[in-house]
Amino acid sequence: MFDDYLWFEGVPLPSLGFKPEIIRELRDNFVVKDEDIVTLSYPKSGTNWLVEILCLIHTKGDPKWIQSMPIWDRAPWLEAENGFMSLQGMEGPRLITSHLPFQLFPRSFSSSKAKVIYIIRNPRDVSVSGYFFWEKMNICKIAKSWDEYFEWFIQGNVPYGSWFEHIHGWMSMRERKNFLVLSYEELKKDTRGTIEKICKFLRKKLEPEELDLVLKYSSFDAMKENKMSNFSLFLRNDSTILLRKGVTGDWKNHFSEAQVEAFNKTFREKMAGFPPGLFPWE
Ligand code: A3P
Repeated sequence: MFDDYLWFEGVPLPSLGFKPEIIRELRDNFVVKDEDIVTLSYPKSGTNWLVEILCLIHTKGDPKWIQSMPIWDRAPWLEAENGFMSLQGMEGPRLITSHLPFQLFPRSFSSSKAKVIYIIRNPRDVSVSGYFFWEKMNICKIAKSWDEYFEWFIQGNVPYGSWFEHIHGWMSMRERKNFLVLSYEELKKDTRGTIEKICKFLRKKLEPEELDLVLKYSSFDAMKENKMSNFSLFLRNDSTILLRKGVTGDWKNHFSEAQVEAFNKTFREKMAGFPPGLFPWE
């Protein structure tokens, strides 16, 4: 049990598996290479789904790789101690995963041509997903109830800090040619079309039957069955830690009326500067 987070320059991070000296080192000295492909997200936005898709695009739909190597070894988690270590000696092109807010990400990114995909999701669903996930992971302090977690989320007192600030930081990059913004919602609604969009961004060509395989092996059910992707290796053989429901709008089953109002008000205030239509769930 942890009673706090690891705080780094005002950002709360998980207490287990993370070290301030690594975060500092990676921000100041980690070299992002032009051929790297980076999956970025605020936690619980569909990160692992996107990583699975990227792995399958890489193998043209062949599931051998995703079925034989844990997802965190295929696309190491940059800021976690283990991920940082394994990225050091990795041959390119590397798949890298990160939840870091913009100001903590490697500075070398600004002059790199690495391709970055930032996946966003309705923060209401992100909050519900996070409530269940962090409790099971047990790598940081845990809320006593949903109501408590809701307050923490609005305040940014959850792992990786404020969702709103994360979005503000990274969305400032959205016009860059090597930066693609995707949403969980569009991936759910039109998985095939969104995978095609990813392939175009990465300049990868898949035959229709290869695309079928990518779809098949990255589906919710296939990922839930795949112990290399469902986090069951990590914790108690529980395949529902990561693959919980996999739907949009589950927040409606958890938010009280007062919470709906409070969230809408906060969203309006904090996201006021963004153009209408940018967030598909609003
Ligand atoms: P829920 O908790 O709402 O079910 P992340 O990878 O960023 O931690 O995000 C986890 C969320 O993505 C979970 O949401 C999980 O169910 C969902 N997810 C993971 N793989 C998925 C898939 N193949 N299809 C749909 N949703 C998926």
